[in-house]
Amino acid sequence: MTSAGRLDESLSVRDGRLFVEQCDAVELARRFGTPLYVISEDQLRRNARRLSAAFSASWAGPVQLLPSIKANNVLALRRILTAEGLGCDTFGLAELEAALGCGVPPALISVNGAGKSSALVERAVAEGCAVTLDAPRELELAASAADRTGRPARVRVRVRPDLSELGKLPSDFSPEGAAIVDVARRYKAGIPMNELLPMGARALNDARIDLTGVHAHLARHTTRLDAWATMMRAFGDTVGTLSAAWDGWQPTELDVGGGIPTGRDPTGTAIERVAAARGETPTFEQFAEVIGSSLAETIVRYGIDPRATTLQVEPGRACYADAGTHLSTVLNVKQETDPSPPLVFVELDTSEVFLLDVHLEHNRWQAHVANKMEAVATLKADLVGTSCGFDTIVPEASLPDVGPGDVVAFLDTGAYQEVCASNFNAMGRPATVLVSGADAQVVRRAETFADVFGRDLPPLPKTADREETQCKAVTNRA
Ligand SMILES: Cc1ncc(COP(=O)(O)O)c(C=O)c1O
Repeated sequence: MTSAGRLDESLSVRDGRLFVEQCDAVELARRFGTPLYVISEDQLRRNARRLSAAFSASWAGPVQLLPSIKANNVLALRRILTAEGLGCDTFGLAELEAALGCGVPPALISVNGAGKSSALVERAVAEGCAVTLDAPRELELAASAADRTGRPARVRVRVRPDLSELGKLPSDFSPEGAAIVDVARRYKAGIPMNELLPMGARALNDARIDLTGVHAHLARHTTRLDAWATMMRAFGDTVGTLSAAWDGWQPTELDVGGGIPTGRDPTGTAIERVAAARGETPTFEQFAEVIGSSLAETIVRYGIDPRATTLQVEPGRACYADAGTHLSTVLNVKQETDPSPPLVFVELDTSEVFLLDVHLEHNRWQAHVANKMEAVATLKADLVGTSCGFDTIVPEASLPDVGPGDVVAFLDTGAYQEVCASNFNAMGRPATVLVSGADAQVVRRAETFADVFGRDLPPLPKTADREETQCKAVTNRA
C-alpha cells in the first residue's frame, strides 16, 4: 500500500474503500447494520501507550495514566485499558462500579466530580480509591466513611487555579469567543481558595484522612502550547500556595486532569474563528513536554520535588477519539433546482443525537464516503440525520456523487459520542463494534424497542416483533 492510502496507523484506503485495521468499513456496515460505532483496538492501545511513554519521558517522578471512562464507557474498551495497566478517572457511583468491575486496581482510581453522595464516598474509601474532594462537605463524608469502613480515606483536593495570565485568549468551546479565564471560572468544579485553606488544615490534623495530592482539570479549551504552559504554571502556583499555607505540606501526587486533544482534533471546528486559527495539532509528546516541564519548574520554586511526586493524567478524548469511526448509510438524496443556490441534502440513517458534539463542542466531523474514498468530490451537500430536528451533521460537505446505500464514515468519534447519545424520536442507540485486526465483534449491542420503552409503567403490550426489533426510526440497510 502507498502512504497515500493511509489516513493514520489504523485507518487506510484499499481499492477505494475505507478500512479500519484489516476490516472493510462497508462490510462492517453490511454485517452489523448502521448506524454503528466502530472502535479500533489497535489505535486505542497505541494512544494509551504513546500517552504513557510521552508523560514518563517528561516527568522526573512516577507517572500514572488514568483514562476517563466518561469518554467511552463500553466495558470491553475499559478492559483493554486495564490490560494495558492503566488506572481510571471516574465520576459517580456507576462509573466507579464499572471501573472496579473491569478490574482497575483501586489504588489507580480517582473518584472525581462535584456533589458526591455518601454512598459513593464510602464505596471509594472501602475499596482504597482516591477521592478527589470538590467541597469541604466531602471531607466530612470521607471522615465518616473512614469511621465506618475502618480504613483511612485517601483524598486529594480539586483546585481552581487563577488563569488570568491567559488574558482574553478565547476558548475553542465558545462560538462567541468567550475568554478561557471566564469560561473556567464559571465552571463549578474545584474548591474556592477561601474554603480550601481552612479545610486542608482540618484534613491534615485528622488521623482518618490521608491528604495525598492536588487535582485540576484544565479542559480542552485550546491547542496552544504556550497557553498550556501558562495554565500549568497557574496550577503549580496553586499547589505551592497550599504547601506554604499548610506548613510545608508535600503532595505525593499531582493530577493534571485531561483536555489533551486528539490528533485530527475536531473540537470547535464548526466555529469559523476556531477553524481558521487551527494549525497542525501538537502531538501528545509536545503536550506532555510542556505540561511536565512547566509544572515541574513551578513547584520546584516552592520546595516540592517532582522526583518524589507522582504525576497523574486523565486523558479522555486523547485515548478514545481517533480510535472511533461512526458508520451510517445514505437513505436518500434531495436535490433542489431552485432557488439559487440549490441545496442538496444527503439523508443518512444516523443522527446528530448520536454525534452530539456537533452541538456540544461545535465539531465539524471529517466525513468520507467509505465505498468511494478515491472518487473526486463533485457535490456540496449537507449531511443530515434522520431525526425530526434540523439534524445537520456536516453542513456543505464536499462529497463525490452519492446515492442510497453508500456508507458515510465520520472519523474521530470514539470519545463522548456514544455516551452522550439520546433516545430522541424513540430511536435506539447504535451498537459498538470492536475491530481487532481482521476480527470484528459487537461489544455493546444496539438498543431494541424493548430497551427504549423498558422503563415505562404500565409497559407496552408485548409482541415478539417489538421485543427483538432494533429500535430505529428507519430500518433500511445497505
Ligand atoms: C476531571 C476530568 N478529568 C478528565 C476529563 C477528560 O477530559 P478530555 O476528554 O478532554 O481529556 C474530564 C472531562 O470532562 C474531567 O472532567
